[in-house]
Amino acid sequence: MENIDWSNLPFGYHKPDYNVRCHFKNGKWGELEISSSEYLNIHQAATALHYGQQAFEGMKAYRGKNGEIRIFRWEENYKRMERSAHGILMEPVPKQTFKDAIFKAVKLNERWIPPHGTGAALYIRPLLIGSGAEIGVKPAKEYLFVVFVTPVGPYFKAGFKPIDIAIVRDSDRTAPLGTGMYKVGGNYAASLPGIKETKEAGYAQPLYLDSKEKKYIDEIGAANFFGIKNNTYITPDSNSILPSITNKSIQEMAPDLGIKVEARPVPVEELETFEEVGACGTAAIIAPIGKIKDLDQDRTFTYSSDGKPGPISTKIYNKLLGIQFGDEEDPYGWIDIIE
Ligand code: PLP
Ligand code: COI
Repeated sequence: MENIDWSNLPFGYHKPDYNVRCHFKNGKWGELEISSSEYLNIHQAATALHYGQQAFEGMKAYRGKNGEIRIFRWEENYKRMERSAHGILMEPVPKQTFKDAIFKAVKLNERWIPPHGTGAALYIRPLLIGSGAEIGVKPAKEYLFVVFVTPVGPYFKAGFKPIDIAIVRDSDRTAPLGTGMYKVGGNYAASLPGIKETKEAGYAQPLYLDSKEKKYIDEIGAANFFGIKNNTYITPDSNSILPSITNKSIQEMAPDLGIKVEARPVPVEELETFEEVGACGTAAIIAPIGKIKDLDQDRTFTYSSDGKPGPISTKIYNKLLGIQFGDEEDPYGWIDIIE
């Protein structure tokens, strides 16, 4: 076992042993290659570098209580990466290549999977980039697919404790008909000013509103938004947010927990009516939200003033993490065990 304080692991990069790569050249994908280098040797005119032709994924491998390695819903990440690739005219990776690459990357770095009971997991980062040289704005003819892993703790250091966020209106992460529904780097570059602004104001993440009218809630930094009232889980239906696999999973299991689900546009005014609010995502896990500050209108919505998460968020959190870490049964077939 590595000499690491697993329970206090930050969400950061920690050098793994190996990564797995695959090249698309001359119209076809090659064989998987294993590398121990953390660096990519890439053409200076690669489309990824100049025109942002790149997409990535984020998923986790969990160490179960019997020591087994558990991967959560990788096929959903595959489908999303395929959509992202089509969205910005990249060559998608074949499904079997994706699966083999992530399973191999996890297995080769098995010693970096945090022990069960620490709350930490092995974050898996598949990356697809236009590696071919172009100087005109057009899709590359060559692509590189890389999968690396790194052990991580939760994105929000507080763990399962409420965080405070702030509404930003003077920058958007995506345009109304832009790439918000794809997991492409440009969205994250565009979100940096909003993240900086909210951090400087003392808040953990920006809450983005729809970029056309600023009337509806979109999402929270690198996580989806949910609000809870009248025993109902309410989450925005918007074509400029990333379709979160965590959110989809919560919506699928909520009825079995006796919780109703609504996916629909959520007007900003509705913030006043929620009993609980939270952020969800692979990195964020489920982060309850204590307060939402509206930076422009000097008003604050409060959901938790005693530093405790609400009962429904807690119920969802326990069930989801129970399935991921193997403390609960997985009736949905969401987990694959890596032998
Ligand atoms: N929204 C954004 C912008 C994200 O980057 C992420 C992280 O992947 C999510 C939401 C959550 O998605 P998922 O639950 O699939 O990790
Ligand atoms: C994830 O939850 O996997 C994310 O992509 C968040 C990351 C951008 C920090």
